[in-house]
Parts: sequence; structure tokens; C-alpha cells
Amino acid sequence: MKKNKISKNWINKQHRDIYVRKSKIEGYRSRAIYKLKEIDEKFKILKEVYTVIDLGAAPGSWSQYLSENINNGKILAIDLLEFKKINNVHQIIGNFSEKNYKKKIKDYFNKKVDLVVSDMAVNTTGNKSLDSIVTGELCMDAMSFARNQLNHKGKFISKLFMGTSFNEIVLEAKKIFKEVRVFKPPSSRKDSKENFIICKILR
Ligand SMILES: C[S@@+](CC[C@H](N)C(=O)[O-])C[C@H]1O[C@@H](n2cnc3c(N)ncnc32)[C@H](O)[C@@H]1O
Repeated sequence: MKKNKISKNWINKQHRDIYVRKSKIEGYRSRAIYKLKEIDEKFKILKEVYTVIDLGAAPGSWSQYLSENINNGKILAIDLLEFKKINNVHQIIGNFSEKNYKKKIKDYFNKKVDLVVSDMAVNTTGNKSLDSIVTGELCMDAMSFARNQLNHKGKFISKLFMGTSFNEIVLEAKKIFKEVRVFKPPSSRKDSKENFIICKILR
């Protein structure tokens, strides 16, 4: 292995360890918490937000952050996988892509919401480009759901990967929302194609 590749791997590993260690010390279930925190610090996504849908929530660090930072709110979290109960968070175990789970989410609020966040991702094929396409589809599905469920000043935040569907997703977001930004939080691994799309105010 070349010298600069070795040092790059070493830096990436250290980087990862810092956030993993930090999350353990601070009592969060995953290092993913810092991505949402950094997005919030930069884009103030929780300002005037009381009702939130967290898609792809397990093991639950984003929901922990939402629960800690929203007073008197209503938060719903859904994931395919079971995860431990979080204070003030209504949890659903199921596949968001299925119609009946979308209906369960709608019925729980029975009105428009302020924020939809999605960290949904698949990581099953071992083929990074296929995983990124499927994750892109999840992002599109979440965005079209958010379009119908958000109130006018609502916000939508989603994971997306740099890849074949990236431009298509950003274009679609710009048709739906007035403000659209793409951001890679400092805690997101440098060697991953992961980015986040931050959308505000419906057109
Ligand atoms: C990166 S993890 C989310 C981490 C989470 N934000 C946290 O802070 O703990 C991605 C999650 O998306 C979930 N997921 C993927 N496809 C899904 C779907 N169709 N419906 C619900 N959850 C899904 C996976 O089960 C996985 O737990």
C-alpha cells in the first residue's frame, strides 16, 4: 500500500473513532447524532418546529436529539428495525415504503407537520453504487411524502449520496421547495459519498 493511502486510512479511522467515542460518552446511540446536530447548527432546522417525522430512525440518535431539543412537541419515528424506547417519541416498526405505514404516520398526526427528516439508507448488497441508487429512491419517496405532509413553512432534510440520481433529486427538490441546500456535515465520513439535502418552504 502506498504511503499516502496508509496515512489517509489512518486519518479516516481516527476521525471515525472520535465521533464513536464522543457518542458513547454523551449517551447517544449512534455517531449519526452529530450529523443532525451539525445540520441544525448551520441551518437552524428546529426553529419553530413542534411536529416531526423521523424516517429510518434506528437505533435512535436523531430521535434522541429531536426529543431533547423540541419542547412540548410531537415526534414520530419509524424504522424497519426495532429500537429501544425514547422519551416523547412515538415509534413505529415497519417499512416506510409501504402504503399502510404511510397511512399510520398520517393518522398519528392528523394534520400537517413542521419537519420531516430522513436518514434512511440500505446497505445490503455490498455494491456501493447499487446501494446509492436504492437510497436515492428512498430519498425521493420521503420527499414526495414530505410534500404532502408538511405545512407551508415546513422543512425536509434527507440523506442522499453523490451518484447517478443526485442531480435528479436536487432538481426535483427545487421544484417543490423554495430553499434547497446540499451539505456534508464535518462528522460525515470523508470517504463516504453521503451528503444531506436541506429543503425549506413549499412552493
Ligand atoms: C443510517 S441508519 C439511521 C440512523 C439514525 N438516524 C440514528 O440516528 O440512529 C438507516 C436506517 O434506515 C432504515 N431504513 C432503510 N429503509 C427503510 C424503510 N424502507 N423503512 C424504514 N426504515 C428504513 C434502516 O433500517 C436503518 O436503521
